[in-house]
Amino acid sequence: MRHFLTLQDFSQEEILQILDLALEIKAQHKSNTQTPYMRNKTLGMIFEKSSTRTRVSFEAGIYQLGGTGIFLSNKDIQLGRGEPMKDTARVISSMLDMVMIRTGEHSRILEFAKYSRVPVINGLTDDFHPVQLLADYMTMIECGIYVQTDSKFCRFYPKSVAKPVVAYIGDGNNMSHSWLNLSAILGFELRIASPKGYEPKDEVVKFAREMAKTSGAKILIGQDIDVAISGANVVTTDTWASMGQENEKKEREEAFKEYCVDSAKMALAQKEAIFLHCLPAYRGQEVSEEVLEGAQSRVFEEAQNRLHAQKGVMVWLARENGEKQQIIKK
Ligand code: CP
Ligand code: NVA
Repeated sequence: MRHFLTLQDFSQEEILQILDLALEIKAQHKSNTQTPYMRNKTLGMIFEKSSTRTRVSFEAGIYQLGGTGIFLSNKDIQLGRGEPMKDTARVISSMLDMVMIRTGEHSRILEFAKYSRVPVINGLTDDFHPVQLLADYMTMIECGIYVQTDSKFCRFYPKSVAKPVVAYIGDGNNMSHSWLNLSAILGFELRIASPKGYEPKDEVVKFAREMAKTSGAKILIGQDIDVAISGANVVTTDTWASMGQENEKKEREEAFKEYCVDSAKMALAQKEAIFLHCLPAYRGQEVSEEVLEGAQSRVFEEAQNRLHAQKGVMVWLARENGEKQQIIKK
């Protein structure tokens, strides 16, 4: 059974294939010609953390593909009262066609996937946010910033403007890890600037450096924002305190106070650089109001692309696992 748990489980060609589907589905959506690829399919959506974009995009996405979504907040289901993940997985996957989970420790989604009879999609864990990165790269493609390949899965690409040089400013969290995975697999330059003590996890960096040897990715990790941003054509950041780190907010504000992407920092990037942020954004902290609302910002296109990118993931998983799921059902 193929799941969508981290980008590390996917080849370059598979990621391009999912994005190709996403771009095709987006074009269908815009022209009101959506193929109901998921007709009669039911997606369960378990949320152990809050969400605006992930919830709305998955729920609207499955409906638009002809299926049904069931929102399962841990406040409402027995999981929130301590029912084990492995029991929840066996029960609900015997009734559903696909499951999306947003949770804390990454091991929780791995546990669910181990016991699930249907494909599982990661809607964010403490360590990874892979669906977000698909939407981010899709937005970059639409701006002409992508890695040119000889893959057949680039039917909808606009003319290339430039190869990505991405500056990620801020916390070594789930977003930075997913950027590392994507850069390593697709082979583009990623410069991360984080305060000391808040760097990405060693094992994720190790995976990226290993993968970069074959993909040609260039990965730089340091503390200097100016070095990271100078000459970049994509600048991105994320909240200083992720969900679950609320009690570290004060000390993080102190540690990250120099790490705000403002107009002065943006001016160091290429003139045509774009600004991305997974949202929610905290204006005046990781990004200034001016940059978030400015001409270079693509954050709302990026947010909308969550809808299309995730439809790509669902359709890809349904196709990839179709036969296997039929056998398991019997
Ligand atoms: N970017 C993102 O995942 O947003 P939500 O937390 O609102 O889902
Ligand atoms: N790093 C953030 C991303 C939110 C979409 C968090 O985990 O809260």
